[in-house]
Amino acid sequence: MKRLCVLLMLAALPALFLLAALPAWASEPDAARKLQLDSLLNQDCGSCHGMTLKGGLGSPLTLDAMRAQDDDTLLYTILEGRPGTPMPPWKMMLSEADARWLVRRLKGEKP
Ligand code: HEC
Repeated sequence: MKRLCVLLMLAALPALFLLAALPAWASEPDAARKLQLDSLLNQDCGSCHGMTLKGGLGSPLTLDAMRAQDDDTLLYTILEGRPGTPMPPWKMMLSEADARWLVRRLKGEKP
């Protein structure tokens, strides 16, 4: 009987880990990560899109330009880049939640 209990507990462990990890996938970046993303936007993205994101080598990321596009296109562009243009993919550095937050940020929401 004791052994059965231990076995059951062992079997339940992975499920517990999954449950604990779930909110991390689903939720948006935490406050510290948002600060990092903000400075990434200004510095790394800004190096091509202009320090005020009004355009440079990269196209303008202004509110008007961003609101004209749907979220999924922007999300895809950020994660995968635009082959054949200097826009690099960011999926090595950004999670989907990070990129989704950046899209909302570019659209003028300040989540
Ligand atoms: C090395 C230069 C470079 C960097 C760094 C860069 N981009 Fe870009 N980005 C571009 C270029 C060039 C384009 C235009 C591609 C095209 O011609 O379609 C672009 C396009 C985009 C677009 C699509 C704009 C539109 O109107 O379709 C988005 C969104 C975007 N970049 C976001 C970002 C974000 C967010 C970052 C930082 C995480 C970033 N970019 C960093 C060069 C860059």
